[in-house]
Amino acid sequence: MRLVTREEYLDYIREHDSIVIEDQVVPLKPITIDRLEPDEDEDQPTDTTVWSFPKRGSWATHKGDYRGNWAPQIPRALIQMYSNPGEVVLDQMVGSGTTCIEARLLGRNCIGIDINYAAIMLSHHRLYYLEEYAKNNPDNEWSRNVLSTWTKLYHGDARNLEEIEDESIDLIATHPPYFNIIRYTKKVEGDLSKTRKLEEYLSWMSDVAREAYRVLKPGRYCAVLIGDTRIRRHYVPISHYVLRVFLKQGFILKEEIIKIQHKMKTTREVWRKLKKRDFLLIYHEKLYVFKKPGSEEDLKTHKYSGFLEDIS
Ligand SMILES: C[S@@+](CC[C@H](N)C(=O)[O-])C[C@H]1O[C@@H](n2cnc3c(N)ncnc32)[C@H](O)[C@@H]1O
Repeated sequence: MRLVTREEYLDYIREHDSIVIEDQVVPLKPITIDRLEPDEDEDQPTDTTVWSFPKRGSWATHKGDYRGNWAPQIPRALIQMYSNPGEVVLDQMVGSGTTCIEARLLGRNCIGIDINYAAIMLSHHRLYYLEEYAKNNPDNEWSRNVLSTWTKLYHGDARNLEEIEDESIDLIATHPPYFNIIRYTKKVEGDLSKTRKLEEYLSWMSDVAREAYRVLKPGRYCAVLIGDTRIRRHYVPISHYVLRVFLKQGFILKEEIIKIQHKMKTTREVWRKLKKRDFLLIYHEKLYVFKKPGSEEDLKTHKYSGFLEDIS
């Protein structure tokens, strides 16, 4: 796990005008910002267990061109619900930096980590232009939030958060690869999307959950967005297995939110063309909000929201 500084990013963009994630090129051009908050269409309700954002947010430096990125509305809602200004938010699989951008806009500090160096460069890029905009337009609440907070970006592995102290994080909001549905890298060791066997993926997720539990303050929350898949026309409930892995680490379940999936363009087009499709299209993901118990009492009171041994 290595801290990647602003200077290192500035050196990088002197020599590169894009990053490549697998075969997808994402340009690193200057970013123009027209607003720092969601518009009316982007601002959908998050007060029930079903969330739907038909229009992916594009305020500030958000852009949906990193594969498998999450809509900024998700970390935004989580940060508002489960943290306070001035606290520290962690996303240990930060991708294009969506969580850190939202954390800063909302006046929280952010630690972002990714196993893919290119993703860390992209996160730096988006945060750099956010800060530049805030410096040039300091007279609004969002810019003041950005200017009064910090981000630390690390190139590292979510299974080993060695630089982060025990019980130092106020909120975790993270979005792992869904097994190997989208490959982020071919060669990077430890990339969760590189696993071939679900058993191996779940054992790595168990390490992720263990580290998340260690660094989170007691009584605070860890939110994980995860989706399912089909193999040979049958449903593979990745989210259920991941839920079990987190409960087994000692977390208790605060919320299970169904997130409606929009714009699964390629998968949907392929499946739709199948004349005889004897299965349903998957149109949702799961957003689990876990709590690290604050005390023994917490564990006893919420026994049925935690891990129940198998009943034979
Ligand atoms: C679904 S994407 C996250 C996208 C992010 N929410 C965004 O909005 O851009 C999953 C990320 O996990 C990263 N990743 C995979 N294995 C990892 C590991 N062991 N440690 C840290 N990051 C990992 C991938 O490189 C990828 O960027």
